[in-house]
Amino acid sequence: MQSSGTGPNGLKPGGGDQGGMGLREAMRTSGAERTFTEEPVPDEVLARVLDDARFAPSGANAQPWTVIVLRDPEIRRGVRELSVLGWREYRAQVKAGLRPFAPGPDGRWHGPGIDLAEAAATPQPMTFIDSLDRAPVLLVLCARLTALAVADVDLDRQSIVGGGSVYPFAQNVLLAARAEGLGGVLTTFLVRREPAAAKLLAIPADHAIAGVIALGYPQRRATRLTRRPVEEFARLDTFDGPAFPGPASRGTTL
Ligand SMILES: Cc1cc2nc3c(=O)[nH]c(=O)nc-3n(C[C@H](O)[C@H](O)[C@H](O)COP(=O)(O)O)c2cc1C
Repeated sequence: MQSSGTGPNGLKPGGGDQGGMGLREAMRTSGAERTFTEEPVPDEVLARVLDDARFAPSGANAQPWTVIVLRDPEIRRGVRELSVLGWREYRAQVKAGLRPFAPGPDGRWHGPGIDLAEAAATPQPMTFIDSLDRAPVLLVLCARLTALAVADVDLDRQSIVGGGSVYPFAQNVLLAARAEGLGGVLTTFLVRREPAAAKLLAIPADHAIAGVIALGYPQRRATRLTRRPVEEFARLDTFDGPAFPGPASRGTTL
């Protein structure tokens, strides 16, 4: 039986079940958190986060994810050291005025535009990544490649669809964490050293690393996220169609 004020699925439309926060508010205010207090995250809290996150969608409901909860200090250090190399490569591209690891207009990778080996050997201090192993929770997110439904697998461009079977899960982890008063961020720097990371973490060959999620009780929360407005990315009927929503409805519902 439905209680009053709930929708057909028994949930309150604006929220109420999301750790006291509405779903819309959670979506609109859950930014990347990279600084955490020293407070440990109890296992039961992390277990609840994963238990909520597992309801994420995936192609053919394959649920291709495996989460490795990092506890061993040596392994954590190894993950940090490998991630630092990816960060250096990323940062060097930004410094050179490039969009890091971006395909060209043809959707294909044409090289980094810089010397990646030199970049990886050049220190680039950054508190978050330099102390990644001190994050209260570190999760390595793996995806079983043979379970992915990669609809664009044979197109002559960068494939994008496969990730869609694992990144909604990552976002669910972040939102579920938010409901527990945690904050966090997904980082993909480790993927730059996937073979070494796979060895360190005993990840089998038919799995990829999708990223690392760091979680903890945030030192402070971002109050306002910078995101493009809807009319900048939504188009009517065709890609070059007019912006949606049109001027008439602008400001009424969004
Ligand atoms: C696929 C993906 C990869 C990301 N990789 C990294 C990363 O390697 N390191 C990092 O610090 N943040 C990473 N982020 C977090 C983004 O930087 C962050 O979501 C974005 O800048 C918005 O930040 P804001 O929520 O503070 O506005 C990643 C996010 C996504 C979705």
